[in-house]
Amino acid sequence: MAKEFEKKFVYLDYNSTTPLRDEVFEEIAECISAGNPSSPHWSGREARGYLDSARGRIAKILSVDPHQIIFNSGATEGNNTVIKGIAFYELKRGKTPYIISTKVEHSSVIRPLEFVKAIGGKVDLVGVDKYGIPDPDDFVKLIKKNGKPSLISVMHVNNETGVIMPIKEIVKIAKEHDVLVHVDMVQSIGKIKIDLKEIDVDFATFTAHKIYGPKGIGVLFVRKGAPLEPLLHGGKQEDGLRAGTQNVAGAVGFAKAVEICTAEMKEEMDRLSKIQKLFESEVQKIWDVKINGHPQLRIPTTSNVTFTGIEGETLLIALDLEGVAVSIGSACSAESKTPSHVLLAMGLTPEEAKSSIRVSFGKFTQEEDIEYTIEKLKSLLKRL
Ligand SMILES: Cc1ncc(COP(=O)(O)O)c(C=O)c1O
Repeated sequence: MAKEFEKKFVYLDYNSTTPLRDEVFEEIAECISAGNPSSPHWSGREARGYLDSARGRIAKILSVDPHQIIFNSGATEGNNTVIKGIAFYELKRGKTPYIISTKVEHSSVIRPLEFVKAIGGKVDLVGVDKYGIPDPDDFVKLIKKNGKPSLISVMHVNNETGVIMPIKEIVKIAKEHDVLVHVDMVQSIGKIKIDLKEIDVDFATFTAHKIYGPKGIGVLFVRKGAPLEPLLHGGKQEDGLRAGTQNVAGAVGFAKAVEICTAEMKEEMDRLSKIQKLFESEVQKIWDVKINGHPQLRIPTTSNVTFTGIEGETLLIALDLEGVAVSIGSACSAESKTPSHVLLAMGLTPEEAKSSIRVSFGKFTQEEDIEYTIEKLKSLLKRL
């Protein structure tokens, strides 16, 4: 590894967001001034054409019917819609909502679950092992103990550790017990093949900005006939499930982004797997570190590392000053001083959790970026 490096900017925070692809930008630019897709005239017809085509392209990738694709503003909205939507549906029928989820979900699932509890619902969170993986049997035990829940909600890939959850087993359990199931697929789409004909979920949430698409556009997959109260009331857009004029250009951008990601997935994940191995082997040579998460059941774009005796936040700031962008926990919780709930659930002490950073790789990450980061880490760790 060369000794001298010029200062440069290295982005290793792809799990927070990804840069927009040029090809996506070009398609967005084509329809950015499209009209209102609900208008009955020529302008509306043109906009509707763009929107319907985007819906069809996304549906094809996910192997679902286009009518099951609901466009919204992103995965925070998608997760809120499913969790609160099911809770409101139950309350309207005079029933107490009961939702089972896990302790390692994204805040856009955890916070709505807290809201459900606050309005009188019941929530159980399944724990995880030291690798960050929940035991599917724990869902069965809870169902046996407390009765059939209104919903099981579980993420496909954890945003902080990259750990892949046993969703096939959990979905199977949900189906065996006739329970609705929701999977947050934000961090798996474009990295793991997703075929919703094979994984029989009732709801799935996606967002474009994690796959080189624009921010502020998401997709909620709703299986036909699945009950759900809309979060937003107003117009009849999106099958009555999401009122408000659609973000046509965003939807087109999402379609393009998901097409490219899917086409490049195998090759890109193989390449990033080498990048991840390089980073993890090099970082172990320079400090007493622990790589968090399962050694195999982990996507190749994420490394969560505990640097013994080092404050993660200080390391993040020091790296930033050297031009290297990483993260502590998820971007959404980065401003809070509390240690990551994901790492705590995996059995790390608060001190260990606070000594951890997340490094995430993507399209523009090259070996030289890893070498630069390791070189900077080496000198910073000595100083800190
Ligand atoms: C697992 C997971 N779910 C949901 C979200 C929220 O997505 P959005 O930014 O589209 O609201 C994120 C974003 O970090 C995420 O990683």
